This record gives sequence, structure tokens and C-alpha cells, in this order.
Amino acid sequence: MQKLPIRIKEHLREIPFFVGRDLWAALAAYLQTDFPAHSLFVIADSTVAALYGEAAAGALRPHGGFRDILTFPAGEQYKSRARKEQLEDLLLLGKAGRDSVIVALGGGVTGDLAGYLAATLHRGVPLVHLPTSLMAQVDSSIGGKVGVNHPAGKNLIGAFYQPRAVFCDTAFLKTLPEEEFFNGMAEVIKYAVILDDELWRRLDSESAPILRREPGLLEQIVLRCASLKIKVVEADEKESGYRSILNFGHTAGHAIEHLSEYRIKHGFAVAEGMRIAARLSHQLLGYPRERVEDLDKLLELYGLKGVGREQFSAEEIWNCICSDKKARRQAPRFTLLRSPHHPELFYPVEKQELSHALAAS
Ligand SMILES: NC(=O)c1ccc[n+]([C@@H]2O[C@H](COP(=O)([O-])OP(=O)(O)OC[C@H]3O[C@@H](n4cnc5c(N)ncnc54)[C@H](O)[C@@H]3O)[C@@H](O)[C@H]2O)c1
Repeated sequence: MQKLPIRIKEHLREIPFFVGRDLWAALAAYLQTDFPAHSLFVIADSTVAALYGEAAAGALRPHGGFRDILTFPAGEQYKSRARKEQLEDLLLLGKAGRDSVIVALGGGVTGDLAGYLAATLHRGVPLVHLPTSLMAQVDSSIGGKVGVNHPAGKNLIGAFYQPRAVFCDTAFLKTLPEEEFFNGMAEVIKYAVILDDELWRRLDSESAPILRREPGLLEQIVLRCASLKIKVVEADEKESGYRSILNFGHTAGHAIEHLSEYRIKHGFAVAEGMRIAARLSHQLLGYPRERVEDLDKLLELYGLKGVGREQFSAEEIWNCICSDKKARRQAPRFTLLRSPHHPELFYPVEKQELSHALAAS
């Protein structure tokens, strides 16, 4: 097991991010040491609870405070205010107090939903993430963004709320359906494109063992991506500047995800968004054409092919982007790349320029 410390300026404590395999005993020991007198509630979606609920209960039962595993149906549509309210009712019925720890066991949906719940229950109770999807391990469990969706858009209601610890157990990835594995690979590829040429080379040359999910290799990839995201978040927790580098592919990606009513998964939508952002980068900033083509190939290698984005017109995508919370005074801003190591953050894009990039992708 390796430990990556997350050091965020305004936080007194450092947040340990543990990466390894079979971390149940480590989790139990941590809770026993840091929260010996707390009650423990696990939140998991129905799929993850069926796979790992027993193991979680087995590991946490010796801690006298273990109370329950609360579940909700799996799926992005349940990252909602209504589901948060139901879980809050159950927690309060179960006498969850300020001395309770919420353990979020699952993918990004669980982490965001349970995290937001932990942020507001009794004005904030300790949160521990156990990310089980690749998406959650390399991205959503790091950085403290929590929240729920609203019919008007994705993640419109939420907070920044840091967990006390993250236990990133790559053994969970064995049971992840292939589509979900590809989904998480979109964010892995994003880190390679924006921050790490060496990672890009490995994704290219070691695709066969990565796609076979060789445990040692997966652990290295997760560790690398997590440390990249940690560095960005440490530099700019609240996304006032540099953190927006992580939004590469997300401006158009979120719009596509939203327009599809979440039928298109986050990672697949981000992959499409990266194709668009790479083309905008080439058109507007001279980002090399070969990099755009290599990115297309890499995305395809990891199952991130076309998602049927053509079903949405340029007009629809434009309007959706303009209504996003990050659009400033209706002028959409994109994270683009001038060259492999030179991002342009908050770059204003015109409607015509987006249409051009959509036509070229
Ligand atoms: N907070 C952030 O910074 C941040 C960053 C990126 C994404 N997100 C959010 O994360 C969400 C997407 O995350 P996701 O892709 O993990 O979705 P998810 O949580 O819905 O998980 C995807 C599916 O995989 C299943 N699953 C998870 N782990 C499994 C395992 N080990 N074995 C078998 N099945 C498993 C889940 O039950 C679900 O059906 C989106 O809502 C997105 O907005 C948040």
C-alpha cells in the first residue's frame, strides 16, 4: 500500500490517499484509530452493495460503531436532491449524529452524492471515500467536489468538501464492467494529454496489458493519475485558475452528457469533448494536427469511439454550453491547448468556431 498525502492550504490536516489492493484491514484500522467512538454508516449503490456490502460489513463490524449500509439504485439519475433527502431521512432515523462517519463506497455517483450529504448533515460530518470505479479512483474521489444534478444541468448543486481519507483499492476494478472501465479511461487519457507525455507513451505502448487489467500495471496507472490530480488540486482547490486545466474536454462533454439525459456516460461524453477541444486548440491556437490525430487513435484504442453526438445539432450543443454554470456572461470559455505543455485556460470560443470544430470531429 502506498500513501499519497494531499495537502490543501486551508485545511489543518493532511488527507491521506492510500493506493493498493485489499485495503479492508487498513480501512478498519484507520477508523479504529481516528474515529474509535464514532458510529459508521456506509453508503453504496445497489450494484456495489451487492458485490461488496458483505465485505464492508465484515471489515467494519469489529468497530463497535458500525451501524448500517444504506443503498440507493445505481445510476447517474439518482445523483439527485430527492435521493439525498431519502438517505438523510434514513440516517437521521438511524440516529446519525455529529459523531458519525460516512463511508462512501462506490463510483463517482456515490462519492458525489454521499459526499454532499456528509457536507450538510449536521453542518458536516467526517467523510471517507472508498472509490470502486476507475473514474472515481483517478478523478472524483480527489479534490473535494461533491454535489447532485438538477434538471437544469449537471452538478448544479454542491459544495467543496474534503474527505478525511481515501482508500483507493484497485482490487475493486476486477468486477468493473468493460464499459465502465472504458469510461474511466477517458479521464486517464485526459491526464496524459494535458499533463504527462510519459503516461501517454505508456497508454500507447502498454495498451494490451492495461486492457487486460493487469493488477500491478493498473495500480501504477491509478497512482500516477491520482498524483497528477493531487498536484493540481493542491495548487488551486477551489478552481479559481489552474484547476480548470482538468476541464479539458468537459465544456462540450458536459453539454453532450446533459443533452443525452445521461444516456451517454460521463467519460464517453468527455472523450467526445476532448476530440472537440483538441480541434478547437488546433484551429484557434495552432496545437499540432498530429496530436489531434494521435488523440483520436488513443481514444479509439480504449473503446471510446463515437457516442452518437451527431444526434445533437451544433445549435443545441452551443445553447447547452451557454447555460452551463461556468459560462461567464453567456460567453463560453474552454480549456484548450496551445502546445502539449501550454494550456490556455478560460479561452473564449465563438459559436462559429465551435460549429467548425464539431464539423471537423
Ligand atoms: N467530484 C468530482 O470531482 C468528479 C470528477 C469526475 C466525475 N464525477 C462524477 O462521477 C460520476 C461518474 O462516476 P462513475 O463513472 O464512477 O459512475 P457510477 O458511480 O455510476 O459508477 C458506474 C457504474 O459502475 C458500477 N460500479 C462501480 N464500481 C464497481 C465495481 N468495482 N464493480 C462493478 N460495478 C461497479 C456502479 O454501480 C455503476 O453502475 C458522474 O456523476 C460525474 O459527474 C465527479
